[in-house]
Amino acid sequence: MRIFSGIQPTGSKHLGNYIGAIMQYVSGQERGQALYCIVDLHAITVAYDPAQLRSSLYDLTALLLAAGLDPRRCILFRQSDVVEHTELTWLLCSVTELGRLQRMHQFRDKSTAQRELVSAGLLVYPVLQAADVLAYRAHEVPVGEDQREHLELMRDVARRFNQRFGGGSDVLVVPEHRIPEVGARIMDLQDPTRKMSTTGSSQEGTVYVLDEPKQIEKKIRRAVTDSGTEIARSPEKPGVSNLIEILAVARGASPEQVEREMAGARGYGDLKAATAEAVVELLAPVREGYLERRADEAALEAILCEGAQRAREIAAATLADVRERMGVGAPRRDRSLP
Ligand code: TYM
Repeated sequence: MRIFSGIQPTGSKHLGNYIGAIMQYVSGQERGQALYCIVDLHAITVAYDPAQLRSSLYDLTALLLAAGLDPRRCILFRQSDVVEHTELTWLLCSVTELGRLQRMHQFRDKSTAQRELVSAGLLVYPVLQAADVLAYRAHEVPVGEDQREHLELMRDVARRFNQRFGGGSDVLVVPEHRIPEVGARIMDLQDPTRKMSTTGSSQEGTVYVLDEPKQIEKKIRRAVTDSGTEIARSPEKPGVSNLIEILAVARGASPEQVEREMAGARGYGDLKAATAEAVVELLAPVREGYLERRADEAALEAILCEGAQRAREIAAATLADVRERMGVGAPRRDRSLP
């Protein structure tokens, strides 16, 4: 089984990214051939600073290694190093409906938030994301809940390609998403009706993976809850439900177990204290591992280059098939089709 996921090198990665995605990347290494891509080309679809992009890319590489990605057990690479992603994006545009791209939630939200130029890249963003995965014929895509719509589009693009150009066979694999049951949508601690995010959420309500333990404790202790005392998940208690989920994942327990354990607690103060302690325990080693690795950019670069070479071998084979099927470029000499 092949697993693929992508992550943006923008801003600092937060607890939502860590729980919703990065923890799944780490466990994916045990379950199949795993590829993880730092998507710098997605990051340029909104206003950005080129020097900052480079530096964020190394930040994220060091963070992912510290979190447990092991270049001997997965392929970790930078998107722009594998040109097949951009070529496949263009080719897939021919089987992507424009209206669908215009209706995507992320496009609508980001294009209204963007004060200056709304780039064409922002519109085509989901096609690049489809190309990322489809270039590897990946079966499974670990992501958080917010990527569901992108995954659905990707599946439709793959199906449409196969119908139009497959000639009876599945040239592209229609991938499945893998969204965790608990922690798929970690909420802002200050406004638990909004998801924790790099751009939309509050600084005080966002725990960053690289926050110092003291900052983490402070943010969690100040989390907004409600006026009751019962420690149980419910739609009317989004703040408490969020803390229960965070604590469950951080401890490797189920939310039900956490609710049972916390039944005798004195109130939300105890829940917050337990959550803060568990999150510090979860993230402190990542922060330390990050600090050890971040300074050696040459070593990080070597890992990314090697990853890109391995990724490229797989993607190039898919592209050769796609080009052949679409009648693009010189005909293949062996003419063997999948
Ligand atoms: P990005 O970089 O915004 O987020 C990386 C991952 O973190 C998850 N996530 C969350 N999970 C739980 N709770 C939250 N509050 C939360 N916020 C973010 C996201 O679901 C994601 O899995 N478009 C993608 C990057 C991408 C990609 C791909 C993903 C590009 N190509 C191919 C999968 C496959 C993005 O911007 O992720």
